[in-house]
Amino acid sequence: MKNILRKNWLILCFLVGCTYQHDEKSIAVEVQGHRGARGLAPENSLPAFVKALEFGVKTLELDLAVSKDSQLVVSHEPYFSHVFCLDSVGNEIPEDSVINLYELNYADIKKCDCGSKVNPTYPSQTPVSTHKPTLQEVFDSISVLDTLDLISYNIELKTKKETDSVFHPIPEVFSELVYQLLKDNAMLSRITIQSFDFRTLQYFNGTYPEVPLVLLIENDLSWKTNVDSLGFVPEVYSPYYRLLSQKIIGEIRSAGMKVIPWTVNEVTDMEQLIEWGVDGIITDYPDRAQIATKSNE
Ligand code: G3P
Ligand code: CA
Repeated sequence: MKNILRKNWLILCFLVGCTYQHDEKSIAVEVQGHRGARGLAPENSLPAFVKALEFGVKTLELDLAVSKDSQLVVSHEPYFSHVFCLDSVGNEIPEDSVINLYELNYADIKKCDCGSKVNPTYPSQTPVSTHKPTLQEVFDSISVLDTLDLISYNIELKTKKETDSVFHPIPEVFSELVYQLLKDNAMLSRITIQSFDFRTLQYFNGTYPEVPLVLLIENDLSWKTNVDSLGFVPEVYSPYYRLLSQKIIGEIRSAGMKVIPWTVNEVTDMEQLIEWGVDGIITDYPDRAQIATKSNE
């Protein structure tokens, strides 16, 4: 099995130009590769995760959806994006069509290419034909490169009250699928669980309090209001980066949380946040993060 994975991996490395190596000294602040390395390779794909590792990333950020047959699919949207996916026979997806992943078995999801069509927002992406992987496939593939178990995952469960049971299972069911897969893979010590959906974090906190949780925030309410609404103090407070100031970062850290903002793509913003004292940054461009973290050493 390991040999087959290694062979597949060599093919993948050939396609994306894999130069993965460990670089222990490079990063003092935790750099997380957003959707792998969305600025450089198709988002949430195996090539994007490999690309992130090439630039010294130790934590891979990714999003999860669920297929009809209960597979955990690495995808930001619970449908195929017309922007960067093609359908199962290689045709463009009409802008107004919604191909719901939760209504498809994974074998059919896997037939669609979400890497050949360049996402115009990220012109530096290297296009490569690739499918939406399962979380299991990501673990299996990365483990072949990560023989020392150095890589962690920041795993986002994409749940929303308005789309419960339509685009995804309810938080309890979704969370159980994730927990069981992590347990089966002995990955519980190498992950954080993140969500914008307070219900999902509350389920994990109540059921599996040992799992480190990340509160994602995009509102402009105070951190205290958000944490009060959540009902417990999570390990990480993870807001849109423009919502932060040095004062706010200090307050959140004093309350016992790490601060890891998203999605920071300009070197000057990274440098500013590092100077203000963030614990980590989530970026589409781990290559730029290498520059920012080196200049702050
Ligand atoms: O990890 C935080 C970030 O990924 C949240 O935003 O929409 O890119 O999943 P989004
Ligand atoms: Ca995410």
